[in-house]
Formats: sequence, structure tokens, C-alpha cells
Amino acid sequence: MQNKTNNLVIRATDDMADLEKITDLQIEVWGFPPREAIPAHLMKSIGKGPCKPIIAELGDELVGFIYAFNSQNNKELYVHMIGVHPGYRSNHIGVGLIVAQKETAEKQGIETISWTYDPLEGANSNLYVRKIGGIVEGDYLRDNYGDQPGRNEGLPSDRFVLKARMQNIGRNRKSLNTKTFEELKRLQIPFALKARLENGLQVCEDYAIIDRGEVLVEIPRDFVGEIKPKDMDQAIKWRAVTGDLFETYFARGYFATDFFSVKNQNRERRNFYLLERQN
Ligand SMILES: CC(C)(COP(=O)(O)OP(=O)(O)OC[C@H]1O[C@@H](n2cnc3c(N)ncnc32)[C@H](O)[C@@H]1OP(=O)(O)O)[C@@H](O)C(=O)NCCC(=O)NCCS
Repeated sequence: MQNKTNNLVIRATDDMADLEKITDLQIEVWGFPPREAIPAHLMKSIGKGPCKPIIAELGDELVGFIYAFNSQNNKELYVHMIGVHPGYRSNHIGVGLIVAQKETAEKQGIETISWTYDPLEGANSNLYVRKIGGIVEGDYLRDNYGDQPGRNEGLPSDRFVLKARMQNIGRNRKSLNTKTFEELKRLQIPFALKARLENGLQVCEDYAIIDRGEVLVEIPRDFVGEIKPKDMDQAIKWRAVTGDLFETYFARGYFATDFFSVKNQNRERRNFYLLERQN
């Protein structure tokens, strides 16, 4: 199969025509009504230094972007949005954008890139925690934005706060060499939460409090694309149970330090966070 992204170009921009395309892509990626998207003129005004938007393009087509704000202490950059066109996902464009953001940020003395994201979105966790090496250091935000239209509609907008410290980006993780569920089980880490299959859908069970240094927490293989459209009650249950679980473990001193996305015997994906006690 031909690689869709052979001629990919990643670059920073403050050109108004590029910024207009970012606004359009936001609407496509998140399903926002237009008033929810960040307008080009705002990106132009704020987008200086490491906050200049970075885009990924194939010819004239904008296929991805990342957009960050400076935090108040000048050592931390806050990524407000990263989006890749649905037709080009899982081609390493997301990781390319974050690495480009890291390189520009490092030159400005930034030590940490942080962002918030939905803990139940597997592709995001895979990219931010497994591929980049970000860590969720115990911060869980309940219903951070209220009920948003589009991709998140109908669910509390709970978010993880993730920090990718420069020295951790690219750090070694167990997940990088663990490809199958069998290999994951061989690590002998207990499961605090495991999904059960019911008519082909991953349903959420109650979680266990386990007094061990490491525990695994399963999340759906595709929360927004599969659980949400097929069974909204299940989606709400996943949100409620995992929200309680993360808050409970975080209060006991655990961080989310790794993410496993493995294949079972039927070649189906299964997604697990690793929670590690810090003391
Ligand atoms: C999150 C997002 C930016 C990732 O972009 P991307 O170009 O697909 O990222 P990458 O290809 O570098 O990495 C994604 C990884 O997740 C994997 N993945 C895809 N679907 C997955 C799923 N349901 N569960 C777990 N992992 C998944 C991909 O296979 C890839 O891993 P690999 O390189 O080991 O194969 C993109 O999915 C997106 O735009 N999502 C919607 C908007 C959003 O949620 N933005 C973030 C909040 S601001």
C-alpha cells in the first residue's frame, strides 16, 4: 500500500490563508458549530514564538495542526488543540506535529508541554502517553467544559491534565515492546478495571481498589466511534466509573505513566492505562 503521507510538510505559520484553513479543519475534526472554532485573526495575534501554529500539509491540503499558548511561568507551553483530518489518522502525523512543537519550544527555554484531553479517547492516550512519553500526574478535571456540541456532546467533558517534560519525551516504556494481550498478561500487573464483552460491545464493570505499586485500567478501544453511537448509557457509565477510579487512585498517590494498546487473539484492539504509585 502506498504511504499516504510521503510528501508531508510540517511547518510553523502565521499566514492568514493557512490560519483560515486551520479554522475550517477544527470544524471538521470536532464537528463544532462555526462559532466554537478559534478564528484566524486570534491565532495571528497570539501566535508568536513557540505559540505560532504548526501545520501538516500534503500539497495544498491542510491535514493537521497543533496550536499552543504560553503559560504564565514561561517554562510551560499549553497545547490547546491538536487535530488530524479523519482521512489521514494513524500515519504518524500527530506525533510529527508534537515533535515539531517540542523542537520550537525547546529553543525558547520551555521545559514542559502540557495539555488536557479526554482520558477515554484511545488514539489520544496512545499518542500522548505511549508514543510521546507524557505522564498524567494526578490531575483529573470533572466536566471541564460543560456539555459541548459535536464530538463530546451528551457526556460530561472530563479531562486528564497531561505533562510531557522534555526529558521524558521519547523515554523508554514497557508498552513500546508489548504488542499482544498475552504479552501484557505476562507482565503480571493486576487489573483494576477490565471491560466485559456484551453483544460485541465493550461494557464497563465495577473497578477494584488494589494495593499494589502498579495496576492496569482498561478503557474502550473506540469510545467516540463505537460506544457512544451504539449505547449512550454505556458511554455515560464508562465516564462515571472511570472518573471515580482515576480520582480514587490519584488521591492514593498514583500517576498514569504508560499506555498499552494491544491486540487480542481475534486481532481486536484493547487499551489499558498503567497507573503507578509514586512513593
Ligand atoms: C489525536 C490525533 C491528533 C492523533 O493523530 P494521528 O495522526 O492519528 O496520530 P499518530 O498516528 O501519530 O498516533 C496515533 C496512534 O494511535 C493509534 N490508534 C488509532 N486509533 C486508536 C484507538 N482507538 N485506540 C488506541 N490507539 C489508537 C494509532 O495506530 C497510532 O499508533 P501507532 O503509531 O503505534 O500505530 C487524532 O486522532 C485526532 O485528530 N483526533 C480528534 C481530535 C482530538 O481528539 N484532538 C486531541 C484533543 S485537543
